[in-house]
Amino acid sequence: MKNQCILSPSILAADFACLGEEVRAAVRGGAEYIHFDVMDGAYVPSISFGMPVLKSVRSVTDRKLDVHLMIMEPERYIEEFVRCGADLITVHLETLQDPERTFRMIRSLGVKAGVAINPETSVHTVIPYLSMVDMVLIMTVRPGFGGQKYLDSCTEKIRIVRDAITQKGLSTDVEVDGGINDDTLPIVLEAGANVIVMGSSVFRGDAYENAKHFMEMLKNR
Ligand code: DX5
Ligand code: ZN
Repeated sequence: MKNQCILSPSILAADFACLGEEVRAAVRGGAEYIHFDVMDGAYVPSISFGMPVLKSVRSVTDRKLDVHLMIMEPERYIEEFVRCGADLITVHLETLQDPERTFRMIRSLGVKAGVAINPETSVHTVIPYLSMVDMVLIMTVRPGFGGQKYLDSCTEKIRIVRDAITQKGLSTDVEVDGGINDDTLPIVLEAGANVIVMGSSVFRGDAYENAKHFMEMLKNR
């Protein structure tokens, strides 16, 4: 069975002065997830936002909150993010001492578990964990900032991970994050991605119109 295609707008690119309106507009345009980028200034150079902001976003939408933790020792905060409203928590494989234990911990809290890998991390490192997670996130830019250019070298990784999932008969989602726009969306879909993160492509300009436009592209694929 083919996985459903899902749009997950990243609020990192939203106007925080009216965050609630921005989220509502993306949801009205059809977004099923809202992507929430947490950065600690250690694992990645920048610092973004955390629990209080997640709580506020939770209060304005019933859509799934897709929390992407770009932080060291993510286990310290998982429970708290679940309490603040996360539905799906993705951790970076590069930050985990005992990946299996972390995935079990996330799932035991009643939310979905995702595992992310950076552009320079080999795709083969993630293959042993496919049955232990609900989603694999292939980073298509170096994590840390929105608005970067899609790295072509990542397309093959999407294909490899999707093929492995199919071969094993699993239903794991494949998410892509970074530099997705009108030109790169067809490429990642063709390679096998089905959860599409978009920061600037949705929130630069009219979030409702942009989300609607990309939802059309996802439906007509
Ligand atoms: C980057 C973040 C992304 C970012 C994507 O580290 O993980 O979610 O918001 O932004 P765009 O879509 O603008 O590349
Ligand atoms: Zn992200």
